[in-house]
Amino acid sequence: MLFYTVFYAVLIVITVAVLADRILGSNGLATSRRAARGVLEILEKRNIQEGIFIDFGSASGWFSIFVAKRRPKLKVIGVEQDKLRVTLARVRARIHGVGNVQFLSQDVFSSQLEQADVVYIFLPRDISGDVAEFLRARMHRGAIAIVNTFPLPLWEPVDIIPTRPERKDGFETLRVYEQKEKLYR
Ligand SMILES: C[S@@+](CC[C@H](N)C(=O)[O-])C[C@H]1O[C@@H](n2cnc3c(N)ncnc32)[C@H](O)[C@@H]1O
Repeated sequence: MLFYTVFYAVLIVITVAVLADRILGSNGLATSRRAARGVLEILEKRNIQEGIFIDFGSASGWFSIFVAKRRPKLKVIGVEQDKLRVTLARVRARIHGVGNVQFLSQDVFSSQLEQADVVYIFLPRDISGDVAEFLRARMHRGAIAIVNTFPLPLWEPVDIIPTRPERKDGFETLRVYEQKEKLYR
């Protein structure tokens, strides 16, 4: 009886927190299931089974956990500046029992990007230029960036996957960029 009371109380708290996060303006569009499957297909096509996958701006963790569950040999790291979302993401990962994901409360520009084999980016358009420069300076050779919706300035994609071909504005088009220059490894 006590177990169920505590269980439902925790469930209600999490639900309210998630709804509040949505309603109070998370700027937090989550990746859709369709685009998330598109990301898995990109990993499949490139035979990426292991290594480090960083989710830039992981919000409350849905996408990172989606990837971690389906690619158990990957180490998934969600980086998010909003502490509430990081806390929700950590709780979520516990509930799902996923061990290969961790969430860091951090600005993406302070992240250990040089460790990443794959970085996933679904961030506001106004920081695309800074992100493009950061990636150029810090990604190791051979690492890829999968970017949702907004193209990276000054980078040429090696693959473009429109997950919503019916949308003319490019929403949820996935672009794959490959680092060909730097030598972090
Ligand atoms: C559109 S959501 C993407 C959520 C998740 N990656 C997904 O695809 O479902 C963008 C998230 O990036 C976070 N964000 C924006 N700028 C950031 C920054 N400089 N450092 C860390 N997180 C950032 C926002 O707080 C928001 O939660």
